[in-house]
Amino acid sequence: MIFDVLTIFPGLFASFLAESLLAKALAKGLLTVNLIDLRDFTSDPHRTVDDRPYGGGPGMVMKPEPLALALESRLKASQEPARVIYLTPAGHTLTQKKLRQLATLPKIALVCGRYEGMDQRFLDLMVDEELSIGDYVLNGGEVPAMVVIEAVARLLPGFLGQGESLIEESHSHGLLEHPHYTRPPVFRGLAVPQILLSGHHAQVAAYRLGESMAKTRRVRPDLLARPELEAETVAVLGRPGAPLADHKAPQKELRALMKTVEFNGSTYPVDDEGFLLDAELWDPNWVEMIRVNEDIDEITDDHQELMRLLRAHHQERGLPPRVRDMTMVTGFKLKFIYELFPSGPGKGACKMAGLPKPEGCA
Ligand code: ADE
Repeated sequence: MIFDVLTIFPGLFASFLAESLLAKALAKGLLTVNLIDLRDFTSDPHRTVDDRPYGGGPGMVMKPEPLALALESRLKASQEPARVIYLTPAGHTLTQKKLRQLATLPKIALVCGRYEGMDQRFLDLMVDEELSIGDYVLNGGEVPAMVVIEAVARLLPGFLGQGESLIEESHSHGLLEHPHYTRPPVFRGLAVPQILLSGHHAQVAAYRLGESMAKTRRVRPDLLARPELEAETVAVLGRPGAPLADHKAPQKELRALMKTVEFNGSTYPVDDEGFLLDAELWDPNWVEMIRVNEDIDEITDDHQELMRLLRAHHQERGLPPRVRDMTMVTGFKLKFIYELFPSGPGKGACKMAGLPKPEGCA
């Protein structure tokens, strides 16, 4: 893959291209980045690339001639057709989906603007598309060009060591990534969620999927509203409820975990034991569904209070309390909790409170 970068500040790219995985990818020949100094395509002694705007107004406009000559020289340099992209806050917002498309192209020319913008005739004649990296304004297109190069490069086969780290990260399947932990097991009083230490792959996968969903709902609910989400999620996780062929493959485990249940017109994602995967989807309708399933006559104030306390504990610690801790967490006698949830406090109460199964609960 070839990137041609048209800029008046080629020096800005030096250390960006000389360090880290990108430098390795360049050395391996996975991609090539050609830096083209627009001032090399000027014809006056001052190497002028900008001029005052017709119609007046503040700021300067990039002249069309150096841009056109620089681009033409690059287009002639190889047979490969190039996609010409102008980086501007006025472009379409860059997304992971767009990056996946770009990563299939043989050659991309990135045109970096400075000043107020560039002569519209250059854009009309030579630019295929305009891309923005977000709703904020930078001094020029160089940093956005680096963003495009890095984000595309890491999608090229052979760039990342493990295919997996690509699949699971934020945005690649339309959800934000789950949290990560490493040693030590307790850091400044905060423990790693027990479930990650359990070695139980299916439960770990369910926990992570639930965390991804909850985080997406909290931080970027707009992502959940996108019509392509279902297709993207299915592409990575498989179809909800699809049969399991090989229990060892983590992707297939996730597929099995993407079940849903419906009650009174609402749909809830659940794990293979029927625990709600996204604690934020918990609502009175869910409580009513569990009441019916658990054969409980009526939801009392005590049920409500117990659920409130269990959810508060979960929010603080990231895990539901174990059965043996429930009396401490809630102040209720264990016998009384059993009266409220005859099938057992661990499963019944936590399920009704919309939490995962507590550790050590059969
Ligand atoms: N140039 C200046 N700001 C930009 C942005 N947000 N995206 C792309 N190019 C830009």
